[in-house]
Order: sequence, then structure tokens, then C-alpha cells
Amino acid sequence: MSETERTFVMVKPDGVQRGLIGEIISRFEERGLKLVGAKFMQIDDDLAAEHYAEHEDKPFFDDLTDFITSGPVMAMVLEGQDAVAQVRTMMGETDPAESAPGTIRGDFGLDLGRNVIHGSDTEEGSAEREIELFFDDDELTEWERIDETWLYE
Ligand code: RTP
Ligand code: MG
Repeated sequence: MSETERTFVMVKPDGVQRGLIGEIISRFEERGLKLVGAKFMQIDDDLAAEHYAEHEDKPFFDDLTDFITSGPVMAMVLEGQDAVAQVRTMMGETDPAESAPGTIRGDFGLDLGRNVIHGSDTEEGSAEREIELFFDDDELTEWERIDETWLYE
């Protein structure tokens, strides 16, 4: 069943350096997803390790945490109907080389280790965990978009 939910999304350091923040946020806004929190920040080693804890035993873990801490990121929380899965679909596959044109990674990336964007996966509890990790409750804003009555039946 479709339901309104929140997801954690981040333009990674490569996307920030390449000037893609505006383009990426525009795609989500135009789709109808509502921004309820946003933070331009640099991730430290501890936060990187916690965020990517599921990958700590993988051979690519050190490269991944080095990369995600290498420059500023644009972290945000988006809300909307089936937001977690919809954002993942809009992002494309983990590997940009396998991502369809029209997706963010398919339009803006070529390399697995430089895939421009992070979005919470659809595993139960992932989005909530990541939102809590990056945002305090008072950094999230509840509001209504003026077009909501036209976005949803
Ligand atoms: P992310 O968490 O960054 O949004 O990416 P994802 O869910 O699509 O992919 P995930 O499996 O969570 O992997 C996290 C990041 O690790 C890098 N990776 N490298 N060398 C490798 O085999 C490999 N596999 C994954 C990718 O940069 C991926 O975004
Ligand atoms: Mg992931």
C-alpha cells in the first residue's frame, strides 16, 4: 500500500564539487517530493563509519569512508508517497555504468565509486536510522506544499 514516508538523501562530495546540487534537488522538487530538512555539511570519520556500518567488513569500506569525508555533502530529508522507493528508482543502480539514462546516476556518473548521490535503501528501518543519524528533530520542518492537493488524489 502507498504511504507517506520520509527518506534520507545526500548529494555526495563528487556531486557537490561538480555543481550538481541544484539539478538534483530540482528533480526531486519537480517530482513532488517535499523537502523537510537540509544541511550542507562535512561528514567526519565517526559519522561516516556509522552511516556505512553495514559495509564495515567489505574490502571497499576504507575507500568509501575516505571518499564520503573528502569534501562537503548536501544532506536532506524528503517526504512523499513511497518516498524511499521512489528516490531509489530516480537514483538508478549503485553502479552508474549500469544505470538507465534518465536516472541521476545514469545521467551524471560513470564510476561505481563516484556515484553522485546516496539515498536510503528500502530495508525496513534504514531511512529512519539515517534521518536520526544526520538530523535532530528540531531540524526537520513539517509543512504543506501548495500543490499537494494536485499531486495526490
Ligand atoms: P549508497 O548507500 O551510497 O547510496 O549506495 P547504494 O545503496 O546504491 O549501494 P551500497 O551497496 O549501499 O554501497 C555503498 C557504496 O559503496 C560503493 N561500493 N563499492 N567496490 C564495490 O564493489 C562497491 N560496491 C559498492 C558504492 O559507491 C556505493 O554507493
Ligand atoms: Mg546503500
